[in-house]
Amino acid sequence: MSHILETFFKPKTIAVVGASKNTTKIGHAALKNILISDYECKIYPINPKEKEILGVKCYKKVTQVPGHIDLVIVSVPAKIVPQIMRDCTQKKVKNVIIISSGFSEVGNQELEDELKTIIEKSNMRVLGPNVMGYKNASDGLDASFVYGRAREGNLSLISQSGALGIGMIHLANHEFVGISKIIGVGNKIDIDDDDLIDYFAQDPDTKVVGLYIEAVKDGRKFMNSIKKCKKPVLVVKAGKSKAGARATASHTGSMAGSDKIYDAAIKQAGGIRCRDIVELFDRARALAGQPPAQGNRIGIITNGGGIGILLTDACEENGLVVPKLSSKTYKKIDKILPDIVKPNNPIDLTGDAGFYRYEASTRALLEDPNIDGIIVASVHGGYARPVEFTGAILKMIRERKLHEEFKKPILAAWVGGKEFEDLVWDLKSAGVPIYPSSWRIARSMMALYLEGQRLKREKGDI
Ligand code: ACO
Repeated sequence: MSHILETFFKPKTIAVVGASKNTTKIGHAALKNILISDYECKIYPINPKEKEILGVKCYKKVTQVPGHIDLVIVSVPAKIVPQIMRDCTQKKVKNVIIISSGFSEVGNQELEDELKTIIEKSNMRVLGPNVMGYKNASDGLDASFVYGRAREGNLSLISQSGALGIGMIHLANHEFVGISKIIGVGNKIDIDDDDLIDYFAQDPDTKVVGLYIEAVKDGRKFMNSIKKCKKPVLVVKAGKSKAGARATASHTGSMAGSDKIYDAAIKQAGGIRCRDIVELFDRARALAGQPPAQGNRIGIITNGGGIGILLTDACEENGLVVPKLSSKTYKKIDKILPDIVKPNNPIDLTGDAGFYRYEASTRALLEDPNIDGIIVASVHGGYARPVEFTGAILKMIRERKLHEEFKKPILAAWVGGKEFEDLVWDLKSAGVPIYPSSWRIARSMMALYLEGQRLKREKGDI
């Protein structure tokens, strides 16, 4: 049986209430976004004054639309919304998105309660009010009013902040992090974070779930959904500081709650808490493209001593260990190094390291049972050829046989300027997790370790 939100994310018929010919209005943008979507569905603009909008036949009310409606998008002033919702109930609409603001977030609890009563008496699933809607990049449907197309991928994002959600779409595109679905939840009158985690848990296009939350309405349901989800769940929880909690109350009208309780609950449920959006994307990139780490023992390969030490410190500070090399691995790597240096962990391939040293040492660490994850770094020093470093990374990451055999994550780090940056874009566009900071890469490796632990717990191995 399909999930209850299947028709919400993949509607066959959509009506836009408050669709307008006026190009500056949100109702115009919402209708246009559906029309320009690469998605097949029937579209019905609703406006009492118009006969057609953007070439599509217009209806005065949802109740006049022929046949059933899977999804209604509402963009009329708040005071009109209850009547629209009564019409939707009468029409037996399955799902509604209420874009309109002007409810509990501005202290108008009474109007929101009126909506709640209508929803509770119906079978509708309702998103909002005070939301941007969603973009479903996997199926090509844009059911939001905001500009921007998400690059297709397998991260599904839930954002309590609409504006931040929009920013995340553009940041993800810039960072080559592919998105399956991104959705704003606003005042969460009905569809809540836990409903969406449950949906994404069974959605074949979603590999990683990410959330920006300020507060959750039902902590137990939220935790249970994370616990049940057999995919990594990354959570940015805002309102950690006293001043942040105050800002939360005035943004979405929600109580940030005790941060310690949130922190413990997310951890206990098996979620991974991220400090900010950049960290969420860093970790999503690693989790979507690499296997989880079976343990926390990390091998580090560099072409410079300094970056090796920074990476080692960052790993150890984040709960990972950088062990000494086994004698077998020592011998393998010793053979490929120049005489001036001896293998250690971090392994310094020295400044003139090219393709072969990178490739052969990465292979040696893949074969070492005492190593669970590999970080390969390049500093754009005097003799360094970034193109050889990136070539070796691509070869190791793309060699499917290696991945299947060793099931170890490989992450890349770099320090350099313009020439390197161009190559980094090539790597990112190929899905390679690459980072410009030792701290960010260590935090991403940590997420792969936590995911490995979660999977072991799920199997009953620990
Ligand atoms: N049925 C259908 N259409 C109707 C009805 C009705 N019963 N009554 C009026 N309309 C039409 C209007 O005539 C108008 O069409 P027109 O341009 O042809 O005249 C259209 O619906 C819209 O109504 P307006 O009164 O013009 O309202 P407007 O478009 O200015 O504002 C809106 C409506 C956008 C919902 C506004 O009230 C609002 O809430 N804005 C904020 C939305 C928002 O930011 N949400 C949070 C998003 S998350 C984030 O931060 C990005």
